[in-house]
Amino acid sequence: MTGADDPARPAVGPQSFRDAMAQLASPVTVVTTLDAAGRRHGFTAGSVVSVSLDPPLVMVGIALTSSCHTAMAAAAEFCVSILAEDQRAVAKRCATHGADRFAGGEFAAWDGTGVPYLPDAKVVLRCRTTDVVRAGDHDLVLGTPVEIRTGDPAKPPLLWYRRDFHTPTPTTPALA
Ligand SMILES: Cc1cc2nc3c(=O)[nH]c(=O)nc-3n(C[C@H](O)[C@H](O)[C@H](O)COP(=O)(O)O)c2cc1C
Repeated sequence: MTGADDPARPAVGPQSFRDAMAQLASPVTVVTTLDAAGRRHGFTAGSVVSVSLDPPLVMVGIALTSSCHTAMAAAAEFCVSILAEDQRAVAKRCATHGADRFAGGEFAAWDGTGVPYLPDAKVVLRCRTTDVVRAGDHDLVLGTPVEIRTGDPAKPPLLWYRRDFHTPTPTTPALA
């Protein structure tokens, strides 16, 4: 067997894969947790997916090389803050290597657990980790939401599309 059909060889190169996936609009969230020493960790995450309704499960993909990986893979719980259009600054900071992600003062500590989250997000899910599954150079962290905090559902979302932040232009009145 030779060429593109060789199962031992990736069928597409990394650049064409990146270019193709740049056409897939993704949400912009900030995923946060605490490590065993109580230190805060957070990163901008687009790979957040609703994977099951019964039981409710969300999945977050995290790169094995991420500075948050050790904390996320070991965390008993984490928060997913789903960002609104006016949260680009914190989204950029939480995607910047070496930045102090908590320097802007936007984060609060969840009552009772202390896990950081963004109170101005559209929605925040506090999740209990149920599984961590290795997938290539990422871990898929699965969690069940145990509490949901709803912000302003009418605020337009922040999206990532073609390597940049975007806000959809509403064509119909917001429903909620
Ligand atoms: C819009 C957007 C979405 C991202 N989604 C993810 C993601 O789902 N998983 C991940 O591990 N990194 C993701 N990143 C990258 C991390 O936010 C970023 O690489 C990381 O926080 C850099 O910090 P580090 O050097 O401390 O790892 C995303 C970045 C951006 C701008």
